[in-house]
Amino acid sequence: MNFDYKTELKKIATLNSPIIISSGTFGTSGAYLDLIKNQNIGAVVTKTITLEAKSGNPQPRIFEGKNFIVNSIGLENNGVYDFVINFDKNYKNIPFPIIVSISGNDESEYVKIIKKINELNSPVAVELNLSCPNVDSEGLASAMNLKSFGKTVFNCSQVSKFPIITKLSPFQCINTMYAETAEKNGTTAISLINTVPAMVIDTENMSPFLGNTVGGMSGPAIKPIALKMVHEIYKSVTVPIIGMGGISNYRDALDFLMVGATAVSIGTMNLVDPELPNKILKNIDNFLTKKNIHDFDELKKRFQKNL
Ligand SMILES: Cc1cc2nc3c(=O)[nH]c(=O)nc-3n(C[C@H](O)[C@H](O)[C@H](O)COP(=O)(O)O)c2cc1C
Repeated sequence: MNFDYKTELKKIATLNSPIIISSGTFGTSGAYLDLIKNQNIGAVVTKTITLEAKSGNPQPRIFEGKNFIVNSIGLENNGVYDFVINFDKNYKNIPFPIIVSISGNDESEYVKIIKKINELNSPVAVELNLSCPNVDSEGLASAMNLKSFGKTVFNCSQVSKFPIITKLSPFQCINTMYAETAEKNGTTAISLINTVPAMVIDTENMSPFLGNTVGGMSGPAIKPIALKMVHEIYKSVTVPIIGMGGISNYRDALDFLMVGATAVSIGTMNLVDPELPNKILKNIDNFLTKKNIHDFDELKKRFQKNL
């Protein structure tokens, strides 16, 4: 490869590559690690951790459509106490920087989780999942309340010994207010988008397909929505943006970088092909060489000039 893919996530870390693995789609099993250990991955995000253990939603939890999936995993995890006790055991073989994703039922729960995460040493950041559509309506409602949203980001930024990344749902990206509020309240970076609230029907049986009735849509079909949101938010904040939603090839990754993302994250397609990061980088290499572009700043400028 011709290019140095080192990516500066300002005030967080210098990553070896702009490609991150999204929350909920990164695994810690041996077989999976064997597949990804030679990939040039900038960082990985853990499955979202909650204060107490959660058993998740009833089966079935994943619907596979054409170019998209709808999942209703429901934040299944063993809770933050178990996460911290087993962190070294589970993550010592991961050769990439780790971002810990967390979600609370209310403002005070976020702070409790952060205080526990503070006992760890190696994560490079904490990502606030303020957006998961699969939790109950109370959690979503408080995340949509701008005042409460801002307070959560502020409290977490104050208490955390790690930089905070605020992850936004598509609803929080309908305008730029949530991103601006997150920045004002001390977030170090913003990531977007989380899954799009969705529903699938088993027509024949006249019943909901998912055990939870509703879920979150992801995969290639949501890319144009996510791209528009990164484009708008890039104009309104100065903190780095991690762009995601439907990335399946190098063109998708380049598109997010052009509209303003500093790094990109792969979710659903990582479940299909864990070796996607190197394939994407190799093709980016060819593209940049062909276009005589020397780095991502230049790429971004070339696009922004055409707006
Ligand atoms: C199976 C699955 C599980 C997910 N779990 C989480 C999660 O625990 N926390 C979170 O913030 N996002 C979660 N997400 C959302 C992804 O991190 C990502 O934001 C979203 O899927 C959009 O990217 P994609 O289209 O590349 O998948 C999950 C997505 C999938 C497909």
